[in-house]
Amino acid sequence: MQFFVDTADIDDIRDLAATGLLDGVTTNPSLVAKSGRDFFDVLKDICAVVEGPVSAEVTATDHETMIAQGRKLAAIADNITVKVPLTWEGLKACRALRGDGTMVNVTLCFSATQALLAAKAGATFVSPFVGRLDDIGQDGMQLIQDIRTVYDNYTALDTKVLVASIRHPTHVLQSALIGADVCTVPPDILRKLAQHPLTDKGLAAFLADWQSTGQDI
Ligand code: G3P
Repeated sequence: MQFFVDTADIDDIRDLAATGLLDGVTTNPSLVAKSGRDFFDVLKDICAVVEGPVSAEVTATDHETMIAQGRKLAAIADNITVKVPLTWEGLKACRALRGDGTMVNVTLCFSATQALLAAKAGATFVSPFVGRLDDIGQDGMQLIQDIRTVYDNYTALDTKVLVASIRHPTHVLQSALIGADVCTVPPDILRKLAQHPLTDKGLAAFLADWQSTGQDI
Protein backbone atom coordinates (compact mmCIF):
# COMPACT_ATOMS: atom_id res chain seq x y z
CA MET A 1 0.00 0.00 0.00
CA GLN A 2 1.22 3.49 -0.82
CA PHE A 3 1.35 6.34 1.68
CA PHE A 4 0.50 9.88 0.65
CA VAL A 5 0.55 12.76 3.14
CA ASP A 6 -2.55 14.97 3.29
CA THR A 7 -1.13 18.46 3.85
CA ALA A 8 0.11 21.63 2.13
CA ASP A 9 2.73 22.23 4.84
CA ILE A 10 6.08 22.05 3.04
CA ASP A 11 8.08 21.60 6.28
CA ASP A 12 6.06 18.50 7.19
CA ILE A 13 6.39 17.21 3.62
CA ARG A 14 10.19 17.68 3.62
CA ASP A 15 10.51 15.92 6.99
CA LEU A 16 8.37 12.95 5.95
CA ALA A 17 9.91 12.69 2.45
CA ALA A 18 13.32 12.30 4.11
CA THR A 19 12.17 8.92 5.49
CA GLY A 20 11.83 7.55 1.95
CA LEU A 21 8.37 6.28 2.92
CA LEU A 22 6.34 9.00 1.22
CA ASP A 23 4.80 8.00 -2.12
CA GLY A 24 2.86 11.20 -2.81
CA VAL A 25 0.97 14.21 -1.46
CA THR A 26 -2.65 15.33 -1.48
CA THR A 27 -3.82 18.90 -0.94
CA ASN A 28 -7.26 20.48 -1.00
CA PRO A 29 -8.47 24.11 -0.90
CA SER A 30 -8.90 23.96 2.91
CA LEU A 31 -5.30 22.74 3.41
CA VAL A 32 -3.97 25.45 1.06
CA ALA A 33 -5.95 28.10 3.00
CA LYS A 34 -4.46 26.71 6.25
CA SER A 35 -0.92 27.07 4.82
CA GLY A 36 -1.54 30.79 4.17
CA ARG A 37 0.60 30.56 1.01
CA ASP A 38 0.15 31.10 -2.72
CA PHE A 39 -1.28 27.90 -4.26
CA PHE A 40 1.12 27.75 -7.21
CA ASP A 41 4.17 28.45 -5.01
CA VAL A 42 3.14 25.68 -2.61
CA LEU A 43 2.69 23.19 -5.45
CA LYS A 44 6.06 24.07 -7.01
CA ASP A 45 7.76 23.57 -3.64
CA ILE A 46 6.04 20.22 -3.06
CA CYS A 47 6.85 18.92 -6.56
CA ALA A 48 10.52 19.83 -6.02
CA VAL A 49 10.59 17.49 -3.00
CA VAL A 50 8.24 14.63 -3.93
CA GLU A 51 8.51 12.59 -7.14
CA GLY A 52 5.18 10.76 -6.73
CA PRO A 53 1.70 12.11 -7.48
CA VAL A 54 0.86 15.53 -5.95
CA SER A 55 -2.88 16.24 -5.93
CA ALA A 56 -3.98 19.82 -6.65
CA GLU A 57 -7.71 20.56 -6.61
CA VAL A 58 -9.68 22.70 -9.05
CA THR A 59 -12.10 25.23 -7.59
CA ALA A 60 -14.52 25.69 -10.50
CA THR A 61 -17.88 23.89 -10.61
CA ASP A 62 -18.42 23.77 -14.41
CA HIS A 63 -16.40 21.33 -16.49
CA GLU A 64 -15.01 23.86 -18.98
CA THR A 65 -13.43 25.95 -16.22
CA MET A 66 -12.34 22.81 -14.33
CA ILE A 67 -10.51 21.65 -17.46
CA ALA A 68 -8.87 25.07 -17.94
CA GLN A 69 -7.81 25.18 -14.26
CA GLY A 70 -6.64 21.56 -14.44
CA ARG A 71 -4.44 22.32 -17.44
CA LYS A 72 -2.85 25.28 -15.62
CA LEU A 73 -2.17 23.10 -12.58
CA ALA A 74 -0.84 20.19 -14.70
CA ALA A 75 1.66 22.56 -16.35
CA ILE A 76 3.43 23.04 -12.98
CA ALA A 77 5.08 19.60 -13.01
CA ASP A 78 4.69 16.15 -14.55
CA ASN A 79 3.63 14.63 -11.21
CA ILE A 80 0.69 16.99 -10.64
CA THR A 81 -2.55 15.02 -10.25
CA VAL A 82 -5.57 17.22 -10.86
CA LYS A 83 -8.28 16.75 -8.26
CA VAL A 84 -11.89 17.21 -9.36
CA PRO A 85 -15.07 16.77 -7.30
CA LEU A 86 -17.32 13.77 -7.82
CA THR A 87 -20.08 15.63 -9.70
CA TRP A 88 -21.30 15.17 -13.27
CA GLU A 89 -19.22 18.22 -14.22
CA GLY A 90 -16.22 16.78 -12.41
CA LEU A 91 -16.60 13.45 -14.24
CA LYS A 92 -16.66 15.27 -17.60
CA ALA A 93 -13.52 17.18 -16.62
CA CYS A 94 -11.91 13.90 -15.49
CA ARG A 95 -12.45 12.31 -18.89
CA ALA A 96 -11.04 15.35 -20.74
CA LEU A 97 -7.97 15.73 -18.50
CA ARG A 98 -7.22 12.01 -18.74
CA GLY A 99 -7.37 12.48 -22.52
CA ASP A 100 -4.53 14.99 -22.11
CA GLY A 101 -2.53 12.32 -20.28
CA THR A 102 -2.92 14.08 -16.92
CA MET A 103 -3.42 12.03 -13.74
CA VAL A 104 -6.81 12.76 -12.12
CA ASN A 105 -7.99 12.21 -8.55
CA VAL A 106 -11.79 12.26 -8.22
CA THR A 107 -12.49 13.49 -4.72
CA LEU A 108 -15.40 13.87 -2.29
CA CYS A 109 -16.54 10.28 -2.95
CA PHE A 110 -19.13 8.97 -0.47
CA SER A 111 -20.68 5.94 -2.24
CA ALA A 112 -19.56 2.89 -4.22
CA THR A 113 -21.75 3.90 -7.17
CA GLN A 114 -19.95 7.26 -7.28
CA ALA A 115 -16.65 5.35 -7.26
CA LEU A 116 -17.87 3.17 -10.15
CA LEU A 117 -18.61 6.31 -12.19
CA ALA A 118 -15.17 7.76 -11.38
CA ALA A 119 -13.52 4.58 -12.65
CA LYS A 120 -15.62 4.60 -15.82
CA ALA A 121 -14.57 8.24 -16.36
CA GLY A 122 -10.97 7.02 -16.33
CA ALA A 123 -9.92 8.40 -12.93
CA THR A 124 -6.37 7.57 -11.85
CA PHE A 125 -7.48 7.72 -8.20
CA VAL A 126 -10.81 7.89 -6.40
CA SER A 127 -10.86 9.45 -2.92
CA PRO A 128 -13.54 8.09 -0.56
CA PHE A 129 -13.70 10.14 2.68
CA VAL A 130 -13.95 7.61 5.53
CA GLY A 131 -13.74 10.00 8.50
CA ARG A 132 -16.52 12.26 7.27
CA LEU A 133 -18.81 9.21 6.86
CA ASP A 134 -17.94 8.02 10.39
CA ASP A 135 -18.75 11.56 11.60
CA ILE A 136 -22.37 11.23 10.43
CA GLY A 137 -22.81 7.76 11.93
CA GLN A 138 -22.08 5.74 8.78
CA ASP A 139 -19.30 3.16 8.35
CA GLY A 140 -16.50 4.72 6.31
CA MET A 141 -14.48 1.53 6.10
CA GLN A 142 -17.46 -0.42 4.73
CA LEU A 143 -17.38 1.99 1.79
CA ILE A 144 -13.73 1.08 1.14
CA GLN A 145 -14.63 -2.62 1.24
CA ASP A 146 -17.55 -2.04 -1.16
CA ILE A 147 -15.42 -0.08 -3.65
CA ARG A 148 -12.67 -2.73 -3.50
CA THR A 149 -15.25 -5.44 -4.25
CA VAL A 150 -16.80 -3.51 -7.14
CA TYR A 151 -13.44 -2.69 -8.73
CA ASP A 152 -12.20 -6.27 -8.32
CA ASN A 153 -15.37 -7.53 -10.06
CA TYR A 154 -14.34 -5.70 -13.25
CA THR A 155 -10.69 -6.11 -14.14
CA ALA A 156 -10.93 -3.43 -16.87
CA LEU A 157 -11.30 -0.82 -14.12
CA ASP A 158 -7.83 0.28 -13.04
CA THR A 159 -8.65 3.27 -10.82
CA LYS A 160 -6.72 3.20 -7.54
CA VAL A 161 -8.63 3.42 -4.24
CA LEU A 162 -7.11 6.33 -2.30
CA VAL A 163 -8.52 6.33 1.24
CA ALA A 164 -8.97 9.94 2.44
CA SER A 165 -10.27 11.73 5.53
CA ILE A 166 -8.26 9.36 7.73
CA ARG A 167 -8.59 10.17 11.43
CA HIS A 168 -6.56 7.49 13.25
CA PRO A 169 -4.04 4.66 12.68
CA THR A 170 -6.82 2.04 12.77
CA HIS A 171 -8.23 3.52 9.54
CA VAL A 172 -4.83 2.81 7.96
CA LEU A 173 -4.73 -0.77 9.28
CA GLN A 174 -8.27 -1.46 8.08
CA SER A 175 -7.43 0.02 4.65
CA ALA A 176 -4.42 -2.30 4.34
CA LEU A 177 -6.48 -5.34 5.40
CA ILE A 178 -9.09 -4.52 2.76
CA GLY A 179 -6.41 -3.97 0.10
CA ALA A 180 -6.84 -0.26 -0.60
CA ASP A 181 -4.15 1.02 -2.96
CA VAL A 182 -3.25 4.26 -1.15
CA CYS A 183 -3.93 5.98 2.17
CA THR A 184 -3.55 9.74 2.37
CA VAL A 185 -2.73 10.47 5.97
CA PRO A 186 -2.38 13.72 7.97
CA PRO A 187 1.27 14.20 9.12
CA ASP A 188 0.58 13.61 12.83
CA ILE A 189 -1.21 10.33 12.13
CA LEU A 190 1.53 9.20 9.73
CA ARG A 191 4.08 9.72 12.52
CA LYS A 192 1.85 7.81 14.97
CA LEU A 193 2.07 4.72 12.73
CA ALA A 194 5.68 4.22 13.89
CA GLN A 195 4.85 4.60 17.58
CA HIS A 196 4.11 1.95 20.20
CA PRO A 197 4.46 2.31 23.99
CA LEU A 198 6.11 -1.12 24.23
CA THR A 199 8.73 -0.01 21.68
CA ASP A 200 9.54 3.04 23.84
CA LYS A 201 9.57 0.94 27.06
CA GLY A 202 11.71 -1.79 25.50
CA LEU A 203 14.21 0.68 24.05
CA ALA A 204 14.57 2.50 27.39
CA ALA A 205 15.30 -0.84 29.13
CA PHE A 206 17.83 -1.90 26.46
CA LEU A 207 19.64 1.45 26.68
CA ALA A 208 19.75 1.37 30.50
CA ASP A 209 21.14 -2.20 30.48
CA TRP A 210 23.68 -1.27 27.81
CA GLN A 211 24.87 1.75 29.80
CA SER A 212 25.40 -0.53 32.84
CA THR A 213 27.93 -2.59 30.82
CA GLY A 214 30.16 0.49 30.37
CA GLN A 215 30.81 -0.57 26.77
CA ASP A 216 30.78 1.48 23.55
CA ILE A 217 30.23 0.57 19.92
O1 G3P B 1 -7.93 15.75 1.41
C1 G3P B 1 -9.18 15.20 1.56
C2 G3P B 1 -9.46 14.59 2.92
O2 G3P B 1 -8.39 13.78 3.32
C3 G3P B 1 -9.92 15.56 3.96
O3 G3P B 1 -9.97 15.01 5.24
O4 G3P B 1 -10.14 15.30 7.70
O5 G3P B 1 -10.89 17.17 6.17
O6 G3P B 1 -12.22 15.06 6.38
P1 G3P B 1 -10.85 15.68 6.43
